[in-house]
Amino acid sequence: MKKPLHPIDFAHRRKTFLSKIKNAVAVFPSAPEVIRNNDVHHEYRQDTNFYYLSSFEEPNSVLLFDSNSTTPFQMFVQPKDKLKELWEGKIFGPEGVKKDFGANAAFSSIDPMFFDEAFVKALLEADAVYYRVGINADWDRRIFMLMKKALRHLGRTGRGFWPIHDPLEVLGEMRLIKTKAEAERLEHAANITAEAHVNAMRIAKPGMYEYEVEAALYHGFRGQGASRLGYGSIVAAGSNACVLHYVANNKQLQDKELLLIDAGAEYQYYTADITRCFPVSGQFTVEQKDIYSAVLKAQKSCVKMATPGKSMKDLHHHAIEILVEELKRLKVLKGATASLIKNKAFFPYYPHGTGHWLGMDVHDAGHYFSESYETPRKLEAGMVITIEPGLYFGAGAKGPSKYHGIGIRIEDDVLITTSGCKVLTTGAPKEIEEIESLCT
Ligand code: GLY
Ligand code: MN
Ligand code: MN
Repeated sequence: MKKPLHPIDFAHRRKTFLSKIKNAVAVFPSAPEVIRNNDVHHEYRQDTNFYYLSSFEEPNSVLLFDSNSTTPFQMFVQPKDKLKELWEGKIFGPEGVKKDFGANAAFSSIDPMFFDEAFVKALLEADAVYYRVGINADWDRRIFMLMKKALRHLGRTGRGFWPIHDPLEVLGEMRLIKTKAEAERLEHAANITAEAHVNAMRIAKPGMYEYEVEAALYHGFRGQGASRLGYGSIVAAGSNACVLHYVANNKQLQDKELLLIDAGAEYQYYTADITRCFPVSGQFTVEQKDIYSAVLKAQKSCVKMATPGKSMKDLHHHAIEILVEELKRLKVLKGATASLIKNKAFFPYYPHGTGHWLGMDVHDAGHYFSESYETPRKLEAGMVITIEPGLYFGAGAKGPSKYHGIGIRIEDDVLITTSGCKVLTTGAPKEIEEIESLCT
């Protein structure tokens, strides 16, 4: 029996959030439902910040925080509706969310009056609004219209429009440092994902199609309890690996090709993000080994460097330094390392960053710089990052023709600890010998 994960303390998150938005009102509409055709919808996933603060997954809902109120956390949700529940399943309704989701007060979201009145009332006492502008035009209009209405209520006080802050400024910081319960979920997502990558190494053979491997990954994810993909799986054979966000996944695997897989399972709203490359015929060619070893060297060295006090920029610079040395050794680049770096000579072969924050979103929230936007922020215990250098010789590539068509990326998920880091994705092998022994 696996150990149960520590529960997430959503009430504590709300308390922390409220303590950081002094004299303010915050509004979080749920993610919109998106119609695909007629009465069929695209898969629904709750808005990340909405879920982070509430754990509530129903659409047509709104969270209203009022740091001045005796009912600081109000929810506006779909009312109970027997017919809708017959088609779509349980609706908690206002009474249900007071009981099960910690709402201090709850009302129907179907009659707009309830939210509109509560928001205007809260505004009259508030100094600022926290709301993400630019995500949903209907909501933007509604919020602005209600703010204008509230201003009229204040009469000739001379008070100006409320400043609007992006709540992600606060939530991004909260989400960036993972609690134990969050790190456990990320590790669980990483384990599920690593297992599916290993299985892909075992089953992929020349003649199969990329989508067959994609299907096996999905089967592995869902079969282990993942809710969904963290992002569209990239299953890219041969030169498709040089298309950084390749998603067609419809090519047949050819003898001697490499298969690049960048795929991650989302488990309880936390996602993994793993990339592995392996030879579909079982063995790397000499040229594939050249490039793979270069990327692996940079990747492992960056993992070693991922400790408190370093920054993502440090890691990126370090990856570039190693990759440039390796490209020189492989006679792809020539010249002085410093000027090759300064002139970005590596860019055609390494056109992306070395990693990003990872969490509830694959490219997770949180600043990469200090408040001045000048100093790169230092890694701290509790952050989770990806480390994913690569080298690509795609369309129009220069350098020795023997490397053309090769694309390699190696990506691990790494939890920063007080003394260094813990790689969460060790379940997916990355050494050449280990990979070859799985692929045969
Ligand atoms: N899978 C997206 C990324 O690696 O950033
Ligand atoms: Mn990534
Ligand atoms: Mn990735």
